[in-house]
Amino acid sequence: MRFGLSCDLLDEVFSSSDYRQSVATGFVMASKKKSILRAGPIDGRSGQVKEGRWSRRAFLAHSALGVAGLGLWGVGGCLPPSGGEKLGDAGEQETVDVRPSIALTKGPYVQLMGLEAVRLRFETQSEEGLEVSLWSGEKQVSTQISKGKIEKIEAAFPANDPSLERRDAPGDYAVHEVRLEGLKAGERYRWRVNRRGGAVEEGAFRAPVAKGQPFRIGWIADTMYPHHQNTAELLLAKEPDLVWHGGDIQYQTNFLDTWAGVFQVFGPLMRRAPMHFCVGNHEYEEMNEFEVFYKRLLGGHGDVGSAPDYHAFSYGGIRFLSLNSEDGLDKDGTVQVKWLKEELMRVEQSADLRYAVVGFHRPYYTFGRSKPPMETRALVHPLLKQYKVPLVMCGHNHSYERFEVEGVVYVVDGCGGAVSYNPDEHLEEFKTKAPEEIPLRKAVERGFGCSLLDFDAQGVLTLTHHEVEGRKEVDRLVIKTS
Ligand SMILES: [Fe+2]
Repeated sequence: MRFGLSCDLLDEVFSSSDYRQSVATGFVMASKKKSILRAGPIDGRSGQVKEGRWSRRAFLAHSALGVAGLGLWGVGGCLPPSGGEKLGDAGEQETVDVRPSIALTKGPYVQLMGLEAVRLRFETQSEEGLEVSLWSGEKQVSTQISKGKIEKIEAAFPANDPSLERRDAPGDYAVHEVRLEGLKAGERYRWRVNRRGGAVEEGAFRAPVAKGQPFRIGWIADTMYPHHQNTAELLLAKEPDLVWHGGDIQYQTNFLDTWAGVFQVFGPLMRRAPMHFCVGNHEYEEMNEFEVFYKRLLGGHGDVGSAPDYHAFSYGGIRFLSLNSEDGLDKDGTVQVKWLKEELMRVEQSADLRYAVVGFHRPYYTFGRSKPPMETRALVHPLLKQYKVPLVMCGHNHSYERFEVEGVVYVVDGCGGAVSYNPDEHLEEFKTKAPEEIPLRKAVERGFGCSLLDFDAQGVLTLTHHEVEGRKEVDRLVIKTS
């Protein structure tokens, strides 16, 4: 465990090798000043001292322990952030938590489970429950102990270099979960996972807003190392209320492009917003990969009627449907097509829902690398048209295209970081074989980026596409909805 200190008096964050010196220095400084010191374990990902403030008294107590050479830090024992119950505030009551910290191998991440509930999940290599607290402002709303069950994960991609931090190593893992319920529409909540020994993970999310409140959804898809770092940072800067991933979450093209790597890269986004995932073809790339990673980690997000590989959620009076374009959409009467029809009918009949926005991985309209699945398109497009779906978001082809087809806007945005494709790769072929499709394409771009879906109080939907290079907006459309 690495440990660090920082405060107004200490310009540097000390690593573990400087710990004894830093404790001694800090002890002297703190004994002379009334400064509040920021102290805690160093985040292995960011290299920064984790959130948490210690009062002068707490710091002095801890410094004394360190100077006395008790070495509690070495086994993860250190004092918790002051108070322990109150986020970011120095309280009078301090308790000593000398238990070893529990490491998280993925997460935490938050996903909607309905209008008034989310689930917070994280993965560890232990079944020991961790304390998860929910906060509204300075008020603690609830505290729960997470539940997780160990599963033996034998598949590992790639796994032959144990020195790499972001690999998916085989071993025993438990996906922990708590349900945070009774949420008030549109309210921003903060969560805290107590990893023990003074280590905490913190984040926030906004509960689904009520119909009539504006909100922003961020779309990102086809996120490959290393450029997904840039697109994730671009999207983070846009401050979405919810992130929607269009599939091909990782590619395993190298030792860093792994599921573990994805959770690191998206960590900052997951700390500010719920994140939902469509399934892409690369989630089926390796034997059992869908079961071992997608289904185990993400399956079951969304609300009533959702399945492990497709799901739905409502936000601000809009229904969002995440389909699995890899399976079960090509024939009428399949479980997924029946579910899609039922969802679209429900939206049409509901006074609480304005319309549905649909997302899936493999695009129905594109002139790019991978051609449209025509059989599936012939079945699903008429449904989307009939139920007046204004917008369909897709990925898979690593470029940006926008089509308008019989009242439905189809967007391809697979610009999340995977190797850039030529969006005109099959343009000449379409000119010959399907010339009627040429004028349907209204916009085309090539470059890494993401899209934003902004919904105003009346449900008017504005689509924008943004590129990493130059941090510029390169497409905008106000979409007519009825
Ligand atoms: Fe794909």
